This record gives sequence, C-alpha cells and structure tokens, in this order.
Amino acid sequence: MSAAKPSLILRRMTNAAGGGESLLSPGVSKIGPSLAGIVGSKSGAAPGYNFSPALKGANITWDEQTLDKFLENPSADVHGTKMVISVPNAEHRQDIIAYLKTLKP
Ligand code: HEM
Repeated sequence: MSAAKPSLILRRMTNAAGGGESLLSPGVSKIGPSLAGIVGSKSGAAPGYNFSPALKGANITWDEQTLDKFLENPSADVHGTKMVISVPNAEHRQDIIAYLKTLKP
C-alpha cells in the first residue's frame, strides 16, 4: 500500500457516519475534528472542534508511534476520548498513517 492510494479501509472509515473527520479541509469538523496536518501536531488542538477533556489533557504529539497506539484502541490509549472506533489491523494502521502524513494543514 502506498500513501498515494488510500486503502479501502481508510475510505470506509472516513466515509462512515457522514465522514468521521474531515481529512482534507483544515478547520472543518464533522463528528470528529479535521485531520489535515495532524502528523506533528498536538492532540486536541485543532481549531473549531470541541474535544473531550480527555484528549485535550492527553498532551500527545501525533507521530507515527502515537497515532499507531491511538488508532489501535483509542479508548484504551486516551481514557474518555469521544473517538470509539479502532483499527485493530496493524497493516491498515500503517496505511492510514502514511496517508495522514500526506495531508497538509
Ligand atoms: C481513518 C480513520 C480515522 C483516523 C485516522 C482518526 C484519527 C483521529 C485522531 C488522530 C484524533 C485526534 C485528533 C486531534 O488530537 O486533533 C481523532 C479524534 C476523534 N475522532 Fe477519529 N479517526 C478516524 C475515524 C473516525 C471516525 C469514523 C469517527 C466517528 C464516526 C471518529 C471520531 C472522532 C472523534 C469524535 C474525535 C474527537 C475525540 C475526542 O475529543 O476525544 N474518528 N481521530
């Protein structure tokens, strides 16, 4: 899988429930926050989204490792997060993270 070709799982997840997050538009939130520019940013800091106190207080810098851990099981990683879907398949997580790295803030 290459970052240029987001996997089916990514498309399914991001299309789920009207699009969990806006992947491409900074500052545009849906059920979840915009993920444009997420890699390298601080957790719970994207403008225009009402994050849970849990995620705001988590003080995570999103990189390959922290994203991998969060996506594997968000509620186990950040107790009380509003994101409840998880990506149990490690390969899928790698695909997703590679894609997230291509998104610009
Ligand atoms: C590939 C798919 C997804 C990825 C990579 C992803 C990733 C993330 C990340 C990294 C955050 C933290 C954002 C930040 O700190 O600025 C987040 C938050 C969130 N996500 Fe997702 N997500 C995905 C799919 C979804 C879906 C499908 C939903 C809902 C149906 C969802 C709901 C949320 C919510 C509600 C939050 C805010 C959590 C809080 O405030 O505690 N996500 N997501």
